[in-house]
Amino acid sequence: MTLSPVQSDVKDLRLAEEGARRVEWAAREMPVVRLIHERFAQTRPLAGQRISACLHVTSETANLALALKAGGADIRLCASNPLSTQDEVAAALVAIYGISVFAIRGEDVPTYYKHLAQALEQRPTITMDDGADLVAAIHRERTDLLAGMIGGTEETTTGVVRLRSMAADGKLRYPIIAVNEADTKHFFDNRYGTGQSTLDGITRATNVLWAGKTVVIVGYGWCGRGVASRARGMGAQTVICEIDPVRALEAVMDGHRVMPLREAASIGDIFITVTGNIHAIGREHIARLKDGALLANSGHFNVEIDIPALREAAAEVRLVRPLVEECRLRDGRRVYLLAEGRLINLAAAEGHPSAVMDMSFANQAIAVEHLAQNGRRMEKGVHPVPRELDAEVGRLKLRAMGIAIDDLTEEQVKYLGSWEAGT
Ligand code: ADE
Repeated sequence: MTLSPVQSDVKDLRLAEEGARRVEWAAREMPVVRLIHERFAQTRPLAGQRISACLHVTSETANLALALKAGGADIRLCASNPLSTQDEVAAALVAIYGISVFAIRGEDVPTYYKHLAQALEQRPTITMDDGADLVAAIHRERTDLLAGMIGGTEETTTGVVRLRSMAADGKLRYPIIAVNEADTKHFFDNRYGTGQSTLDGITRATNVLWAGKTVVIVGYGWCGRGVASRARGMGAQTVICEIDPVRALEAVMDGHRVMPLREAASIGDIFITVTGNIHAIGREHIARLKDGALLANSGHFNVEIDIPALREAAAEVRLVRPLVEECRLRDGRRVYLLAEGRLINLAAAEGHPSAVMDMSFANQAIAVEHLAQNGRRMEKGVHPVPRELDAEVGRLKLRAMGIAIDDLTEEQVKYLGSWEAGT
């Protein structure tokens, strides 16, 4: 089977060599994806599949795309955020690795959607999403593609929430595997990946000293837990704002201060939203911020900070460093919005480190393989990554790290399987 000719809309193909070096550097830390790549190259489980993927176009995603291509898939890639594309990686994918890419860092919103539409032009059999924008576009504008669709995957919490609400409305018309819900994804990517890369993004954008700062983390899901633990590790005093009582309790017992954002607003130096919800930092909080407060978002969409309210409250807005917007409010306070409220870890740094994306993308690759084999028999709706595949990713990662673990003895297996033994 011949693959379709490479098509693209990327910033500059002359960046390809630099991009290839980045892709190779990331590969050093992605041994599980490498193993899957090697197996795919032998068994070609994706032969004949057309995959349209809307993911952050990074060196880690490039390694995933290469594994899928080795498996026989025809793949087209577009960005899942206007600010997350690594232009040199996009160029390398097109010019060196022969993969169609439609993504330019800083693209405006119409171009973002034009690129999505271009990724769909090949009439995919499988979609891969990070935020559910492809699925939404297919259900809104390209319902003609539904008949040929085997299934899809979803990378992130926000996307899974969106898909579940589509399914609850009876609107989701093909099966999607929620990669985010694999233990080997969210325990590691959301917690350690978002934790480290969020601080990395804020540091690169501002060069701020964390030690001694009061850092307010809005949301204590897996990402919030990771951000809070890393901020504390840097010597910051951490404050958590939550709406879920159990998570709030967990934050208290993890040793963080917990209070409503209305109170935290006036004591925080740095605010980080990781809620997946709209206007977590709203007008009433902006009214209480200290002079000099930094506002950053690490949730998927740029809606968590009420940016229109912030700009409306400002007498003057100016860019004081790349990705740092100073809003001087009418009463003279200055508030700094980072990366236009977009994912700070990808907009100002490089996203999660490769070693953690190795597990997320191993799950993506095996989920796609599972869809190619079983998708036509799966019901429409949101499905988990099969348990044994999730565990296999954990086993492979441990092996790659050179870490051995214990096995149950026969006696223990028997004990766990019986109900007879008691006190
Ligand atoms: N999401 C978060 N970090 C990422 C990365 N490095 N590559 C692709 N997607 C990501």
